[in-house]
Amino acid sequence: MDTFTSAMLEESARRFAAGHATGTLRAALVAGSGITLAANGWERAADVPYQDVFPFAIQPLLGHTPTVTLWRKGGDGLLVFNGRFHPYQGYSAYQVAAIPRLAGLLGSPVYIATNASGSIDPHVPAGSLVVIRDHINLQGINPLIGEWGRWREPVFPDMTTAYDPALRSAAMRLAAAAGFEVHEGIYAGVLGPSYETPAEVEMLRRVGGTVVGMSTVQEVIAARHLGMRVLLLSLATNLAAGIAGRPLTHQEVIDAGQAARGRLATLLERLLGEIVAGTV
Ligand code: HPA
Repeated sequence: MDTFTSAMLEESARRFAAGHATGTLRAALVAGSGITLAANGWERAADVPYQDVFPFAIQPLLGHTPTVTLWRKGGDGLLVFNGRFHPYQGYSAYQVAAIPRLAGLLGSPVYIATNASGSIDPHVPAGSLVVIRDHINLQGINPLIGEWGRWREPVFPDMTTAYDPALRSAAMRLAAAAGFEVHEGIYAGVLGPSYETPAEVEMLRRVGGTVVGMSTVQEVIAARHLGMRVLLLSLATNLAAGIAGRPLTHQEVIDAGQAARGRLATLLERLLGEIVAGTV
């Protein structure tokens, strides 16, 4: 029985806002597996462990403490969530959605997620950045069922433009201007934590997936429900099972995240500049 209620999250947001001068939040960012995000040109104002923010037990994530970093510049603020909650860890859809919901309650108008994924598409090599234009939720859960569905209108949120067209095209344009390739594609969100079988990867390819991963789709549904504009940058860390012809390891996912750090930082720095300037 999941006892994580909307009243509990609202209290968490009140406490965070009372304890930290967030300024005018411009965006919330989430760093996925192996990905580190620093806001170049912003000042690190606070680093708060998740266990001091969220009202449920936080599992250790590969030995490091997940924190939310508040970055400030002038009157503006950014939240960077270092690590996320995954359904495969046993978190409920409500707990998984706590990060975007907290960001939304604190007033962030934009939700930028990053994650790691496996490429299903032979045109998308390992190490590629993929601007996600749509998703397929295959996790069998949804953060809007039950009490949380009645928490806010609309009860049946539209998902036609779940991924903000203006943010997506800005990401494509800024990557091209910075001189590196990005792809555009569809994220198939599965439960995990076992990687897919080759037959499953073939199925995902036939239904139109570009990359496959075990996260983020619940967050996007919750973020859209609160009216935030969403961007998802997925790092295809590996070729999905059966495509590379060899077993997958978590280490290659982590290593690819490190290798893409510079490209992601450049892209996000420029994108945040445009978001703050109000040009995108
Ligand atoms: N499958 C699912 N999730 C992933 C993968 C993958 O191949 N790589 C990174 N996350």
